Amino acid sequence: MSITKKRVAVLISGRGSNMKTLAEAASGPRASYEIVGVISDKPEATGLNHAAALDIEARAISRKDFPDKTTHEAAIDAQLKRWNVEIVALAGYMRLLSADFVETWKGRMVNIHPSLLPLFKGLDTHRRALEGGLRIHGCTVHFVTAEMDGGPIIAQAAVPVSPDDNEDSLTRRVLAAEHQLYPLALDLVATGRAQLVGNRVAFDHLGASSGRERILSPSTGHDGEADLESLARFTP
Ligand code: GRF
Repeated sequence: MSITKKRVAVLISGRGSNMKTLAEAASGPRASYEIVGVISDKPEATGLNHAAALDIEARAISRKDFPDKTTHEAAIDAQLKRWNVEIVALAGYMRLLSADFVETWKGRMVNIHPSLLPLFKGLDTHRRALEGGLRIHGCTVHFVTAEMDGGPIIAQAAVPVSPDDNEDSLTRRVLAAEHQLYPLALDLVATGRAQLVGNRVAFDHLGASSGRERILSPSTGHDGEADLESLARFTP
């Protein structure tokens, strides 16, 4: 039986490593989604080259080519419609989207943020986690609302902070956790198991006492790499 995959576009501004992991996950035989296009607001984003190398349509839609935010977002929206996109995944997209754009994609647009929200909205999350003396840090995938990094949470991964950590080492470990979390969280949305209902995420088809899909916590090995095997135990 053939499964209809949800059509996902990824919006980036730079490196695009999360986009790449989503694309790799989407290429699996049982994937619930496919990446039909990548848009960057920065023409120089290296993620555009990664997308092209993966045979994914990649477009730069630069803010500089438009007189204002409204026309820029209209161009992005038009491209998404041309691709018949069903879900928008923000992955390092560094521009705040307008309330109108967010409303258009309400319940169909997700973002990954490198902290355990609602802690550390905005930038420099790893530095702030270290300064705050956190022992547990991590990342979050959430539905996008007009409030920056404030939308309802779909899934989180915890990353222990070691006393020897610096910003670089913590960034690297959280990014490894992001690369595991985002494909799984997007799968929850693409399959309809996580849906935005009002201001909350409703999780369908879960056992009443399960809750496993709500918090995905990859353990980290001593070499600092997240352990995919242990994460798999938390997945449906
Ligand atoms: C990631 O840390 C993501 O959480 C944040 O921006 C970074 C993007 O990295 N929103 P990449 O472009 O996916 O490599």
